[in-house]
Amino acid sequence: MTSTMQIALTRPDDWHLHLRDGDALATVLPHSARQFARAIVMPNLRPPVTTVAAATAYRARILAALPAGMAFEPLMTLYLTDSTPVDEIRRAVASEFVRAVKLYPAGATTNSDAGVTNLDRCAAVLTEMERSGLPLLVHGEVTDSKIDVFDREKVFIERVLKPLLVRYPGLKVVFEHITTRDAADFVAACGPNIAATITAHHLLYNRNAIFAGGLRPHYYCLPVLKREVHRQALLRAATSGNPRFFLGTDSAPHPRVSKEVDGGCAGCYTAHAALELYAEAFDAADALHRLEAFASFNGPDFYGLPRNTGSVTLVREAWRPPAAFAYLGGDTLVPLAAGELLRWKMRG
Ligand code: DOR
Ligand code: ZN
Repeated sequence: MTSTMQIALTRPDDWHLHLRDGDALATVLPHSARQFARAIVMPNLRPPVTTVAAATAYRARILAALPAGMAFEPLMTLYLTDSTPVDEIRRAVASEFVRAVKLYPAGATTNSDAGVTNLDRCAAVLTEMERSGLPLLVHGEVTDSKIDVFDREKVFIERVLKPLLVRYPGLKVVFEHITTRDAADFVAACGPNIAATITAHHLLYNRNAIFAGGLRPHYYCLPVLKREVHRQALLRAATSGNPRFFLGTDSAPHPRVSKEVDGGCAGCYTAHAALELYAEAFDAADALHRLEAFASFNGPDFYGLPRNTGSVTLVREAWRPPAAFAYLGGDTLVPLAAGELLRWKMRG
């Protein structure tokens, strides 16, 4: 741990974010826009964002929900299905604001039922993406119920990712929200067209957090938190200086009623304090000097976008995130680290 009192970072971006829609969007968007200049916006709405036309409309709703005086650029994604037409990829590339296509294996997570059942069905689309350089963002878990839930990422690498990369060696792939040493090692050993995002919660917590003092649903996300050895491997990867690891919060809001219930939803809400949570993790690893590249340089470099201008400042100041935010009429949104002591605070 350092005794640095403040750090300035080039304004960062969030390369994996759930903004939702409607009233939920209006609540969560200001949290992200305060910290990040841009974000890769996940397409798992109901119905999912499968076309450039739908992405155009969603982007307009995001911009309309932005409070006056805030700047934020939503980088849109398309939700890949078994029947996504090749022309949709061409339209996405031409749009210049659809920046990637998201692969959800059908049934892997929230609103993934319309996802891909068999990647063979997407061969023409993947060929076009490989040709045009449009990245594929991968939720890397198999959905086979016979596979232990803690092993689904590791098995995905063998069963899906390796064959995919053999078949499309030039495809740009972001292995999203990696959670295991296996994924970190795999990505580190890959070439320049494969990268990974890492969440703050997977850097800060291991699976004990889900069960500490009773069942803690706000620590339940997918892919689920793993063992301590995996957390440590993720922390090493994030702080290694390897430019193919970058920040993606996977901040995923759900109303309290949908979290604190039998069959509760997966997702940790971290947008309220995303940078602070990453700073906490990097500080604990004595690697605050690596935070700027991870948060502000590696993502745009991989996506071929300009780095941001302007900066944000984190100060060493103890504070506690609120217990909850008002959300969706009478409900609340419980953020991660609610009421816990954090040691870094973004100024402004
Ligand atoms: O925990 C998660 N929540 N993982 C996902 O992949 C989806 C997300 C959500 O949309 O709530
Ligand atoms: Zn996600």
